[in-house]
Amino acid sequence: MKSMGVRGCTKSRSARPDAPDVPWPTSGEVHQLRPDARPATFAAVSPSRSAVPHRYPESPVFYRSLTREHPMAVRGEGCWLEDATGKRYLDAVGGAYVASIGHGVREIGDAMAAQAGRLAYVNGTAFTNEAVEGLAERLVARSPALGKAYILGSGSEAVEAALKLARQYWIERGEAGRNRIIALSPGYHGNTLLALSASARAHYRAYWGDWLVDVQRIPAPSAYRCSCDGDVACPACSGTALEEAIVAAGPGRVAAFILEPVGGSSTGGNVPRDGYLRTVREICTRHDVLLIADEILCGAGRTGTWTAIEHWGVVPDILTLGKGIGGGYAPVSAVLVRDDIVDVIARGSGALMHAQTFSHHAVTCAAAVATLDYMAAHDLVGRCARMAPVFHGKLDALRALPGVGDVRGRGLLAGVEFVADVRTRAPFAREARVAERFTRVAQDAGLIVWPNVGHVDGGLGDLVMLAPPYIITEGEIDEIVARFALACHTLFD
Ligand SMILES: Cc1ncc(COP(=O)(O)O)c(C=O)c1O
Repeated sequence: MKSMGVRGCTKSRSARPDAPDVPWPTSGEVHQLRPDARPATFAAVSPSRSAVPHRYPESPVFYRSLTREHPMAVRGEGCWLEDATGKRYLDAVGGAYVASIGHGVREIGDAMAAQAGRLAYVNGTAFTNEAVEGLAERLVARSPALGKAYILGSGSEAVEAALKLARQYWIERGEAGRNRIIALSPGYHGNTLLALSASARAHYRAYWGDWLVDVQRIPAPSAYRCSCDGDVACPACSGTALEEAIVAAGPGRVAAFILEPVGGSSTGGNVPRDGYLRTVREICTRHDVLLIADEILCGAGRTGTWTAIEHWGVVPDILTLGKGIGGGYAPVSAVLVRDDIVDVIARGSGALMHAQTFSHHAVTCAAAVATLDYMAAHDLVGRCARMAPVFHGKLDALRALPGVGDVRGRGLLAGVEFVADVRTRAPFAREARVAERFTRVAQDAGLIVWPNVGHVDGGLGDLVMLAPPYIITEGEIDEIVARFALACHTLFD
């Protein structure tokens, strides 16, 4: 296949009535990595080490897993990755919901190199730089009610900063009693200690329990798991549980309520009922509680609108973005906030007390500017919306596979939940390690998915997530379904 304007897509457009504006591959084929694009070997690894297995303890790398061998990924293009043996993988989750515009988009690297060659780093107290100004301009233009953007590196840093910002705001407004945070369970907001405190993910918290701050939890809505069976009055699924929690905390005690507007790994892509976000917005407004929308995972266009929350016409007070805004080309995240919140701090202490060396970094900001411009030039957020019915329509076939209990999500985000009994929805025993084993089997079959466990009761529950790059084609979605089915049959038959 020849070089293409948008990686993984042909320029032709079919007249298919079901998705008229979506570019389709000409003959249902999936994208092939271009042999002519094979780069010269990157000379980072010394020849004497290149034959050493990429596992503990042979390698000097402190790997995320100390119990497995890691294939050496050497290149990516579109929705595809290739390892050093030439094996190809369909990256059905963009690494970790990150590769929004696809792998191997040369413009992004070019923009980063140009910025690094001109100016790589200045400290954000002494200077500003063109890239951070450009990124903030683009981000606030997409969320006009939130007039200021603070730029960081990871999602955890952004959530940490958002929660500290909420606390500092209330102190500077003279309401120091507002020191409580409310969050959903299940829910995930990051791995640094305050973000982890807000996260209801038992296995991540296991070692650090006595270092975490106390965060009040309310049950997350769940169409598949809640015992309410669709009851409109269900406090968890309607959102009214939030008001009960705020009242229970006492007047003037709650600083912020943080949630993922569309669930990520923790709930397996749970989409709340239509009235849910309006209800929690009204409750927050009524009780003067800041609403923090954590869109590190679900934002940046993945659900078919720039932010997931705007689908319901709801505006948060603080918004976090990460992962997809840099497309994986650089670690970059953002905290967007209402002007009047920043004004309080500006008139008071004069600074958010959260300086980090690499905030507002020129090169990572340049990567995000180029990624956002690429998305805009190719209308990739619109493409997410148009591909959503195609994606979910084809994923419906997964429901018939052994072990699959539910398939859910929005846009190009989906969760597939595994159950031991489809009728009763009983989860597998944890010792079976279904999500982890499925992920390994899928990787062997050349399909990259993201596993999560524990959403049923903190311990039980197995699911995997799919979140392909926004450029995915119909043929590649068919390929996801085929490889997923292969992995299911390998694991369960
Ligand atoms: C909703 C949400 N918030 C925060 C984070 C933390 O982001 P990071 O892993 O970049 O620190 C994640 C990571 O998956 C996430 O899904």
